[in-house]
Amino acid sequence: MSAKNIVVLVSGGGTNLQALIDAQKNGELGCGKITCVISSKADAYALTRASDNGIKTRVLVRKDYSDIASYSKAMRDALLEEKADLIVYAGFMTILDENVCDAFQNKMINVHPALIPSFCGKGFYGLHVHECALEKGVKVSGATVHFVTAECDAGPIILQKAVEVLEGDTPESLQKRIMQEAEWKILPKAVQLFCDDKITVKDGKTIIK
Ligand code: GAR
Repeated sequence: MSAKNIVVLVSGGGTNLQALIDAQKNGELGCGKITCVISSKADAYALTRASDNGIKTRVLVRKDYSDIASYSKAMRDALLEEKADLIVYAGFMTILDENVCDAFQNKMINVHPALIPSFCGKGFYGLHVHECALEKGVKVSGATVHFVTAECDAGPIILQKAVEVLEGDTPESLQKRIMQEAEWKILPKAVQLFCDDKITVKDGKTIIK
């Protein structure tokens, strides 16, 4: 199996990036190696986590570009320069257009903090996802790792993990539990499966070997 360059896209605190770094240290990313972290925000703490671990960082600030198309083009160029074999959205809060998604079809994965197709799509990100889940009164939520397509949160699902909603949960407590019990586990696992060539996509669905 050939070694794979993993480029991680971030916008914030980077706890999912940290889970990937920890998995790499424990030899749990299969043939993958995190070679670059690209942030859409200059002050994202995720950048510090990357530097502290000797990982190359780049910053591509969304508001430095006039529209999504020019930002997406800059991102595609950066990903090609980095020779990315796998691109991981780890709390990356910017939607990229089809020029990026087509260039890296079935090579980009995202972690979403809900059980898709619930509480997903445009506008559903971060804490707001958990506010909506609590407002609806669901008893179970969780996280999903899926391939990225031009349609937001609609690509083939790779892994999902359910997490119980508890009486008295706040958006913050639910977010934390979903991260700890689901996101930080299924994201590194999906990366490992990808890097070990264990995922195929057929008719919009994944098959895990
Ligand atoms: C995570 O909960 C991630 O699932 C979510 O943002 C948080 C980022 O945290 N992503 C989305 O909502 C994308 N739609 P992190 O920066 O600590 O990994």
